[in-house]
Amino acid sequence: MDITKRPRRLRSDGVRPLVSETALSPSDLIAPVFVDATADERVPIESMPGHERVPVEGIAERVREVRETGVEAVMLFGIPEEKDERGTRAWADNGVVQRALRRISEETDAYVITDLCFCEYTSHGHCGILTSEAREGWEELRSSDGIEEGAEEDPHMTVDNDATLELIERTALSQAEAGADMIAPSGMMDGMVATIRDTLDREGFTEVPIMSYAVKYESAFYGPFRDAADGAPSFGDRRHYQMDPANRREAIREARLDAEQGADALMVKPALPYLDIVRDVRETTDLPVAAYNVSGEYAMLHAAAGKGWLDLEAVAAESLLSIKRAGADLILTYFAESVAETLSADH
Ligand code: PBG
Ligand code: ZN
Repeated sequence: MDITKRPRRLRSDGVRPLVSETALSPSDLIAPVFVDATADERVPIESMPGHERVPVEGIAERVREVRETGVEAVMLFGIPEEKDERGTRAWADNGVVQRALRRISEETDAYVITDLCFCEYTSHGHCGILTSEAREGWEELRSSDGIEEGAEEDPHMTVDNDATLELIERTALSQAEAGADMIAPSGMMDGMVATIRDTLDREGFTEVPIMSYAVKYESAFYGPFRDAADGAPSFGDRRHYQMDPANRREAIREARLDAEQGADALMVKPALPYLDIVRDVRETTDLPVAAYNVSGEYAMLHAAAGKGWLDLEAVAAESLLSIKRAGADLILTYFAESVAETLSADH
């Protein structure tokens, strides 16, 4: 036997930690939290065990719970008291997110990132205002029993990009005024980062960073979130603005565009089925890369663990470690609190 190269030599207990290449820390994690203007007590989210929609009055308490696990940052999502065609509650000064932001900054030291999108705020559930063709089509749909044959294929049945930018501007400003520490636009509108940077700078918020959902795929893994935040589109889907899961080069193009427009961090979403893309974006940019371990990724591990088929704590930690190894600096995950607790217990 002349095996001189034996990788196993570095796998014994004493040396393993010394040669470990990747480490996960609670400070890498961002916990999504849901504030609900229609709730007067916490409402469990069925498809996302352990997560709840929280009333505005209870949001600071919710954020304190997150902080106790060692996770320092939250991503805030709002469910408004009412929806309309333009999503006007998204930029209302007394909107659900704005009220929550004020409470959180008064009562905690958390770093608060706001998701900026309209799908939770629009009556049609799309991520911006509709084109006039889409509005007509949608009215027809509501007055009849179903959408007309072929209407879903109509390329005009979509969100009006440039008109939506104007609403993004208002919403970014109102979030910054209410105390958002960082703004994360997730609607996949072209030019959204430049528009927000411009507005924030003009209004004196030069220190508020933008984390762009730069590379966001049109994914079926968002299912549980859409139930949680009540943001499913009422007709069609999001393929006219979110990316085709088949595309890899396009991810690089999106990442570069958002970097040029002044993004401070770039996100890839979802995470686990798209780790090749996380790696590509890592190698394309010198900006921090975030990955969003989305609701469906969370739900499927929970479901399998519920059947006794997987060890939840182990697969959750392994998933997040793998996302980090692929190149993510920050991870948005519904496992943030539980994994942070395990990490702290290990030390
Ligand atoms: C809003 C938004 C979504 C998610 C984050 N921000 C839903 C969507 O685009 O349909 C998904 C998060 C998740 O599934 O965990 N645009
Ligand atoms: Zn949206």
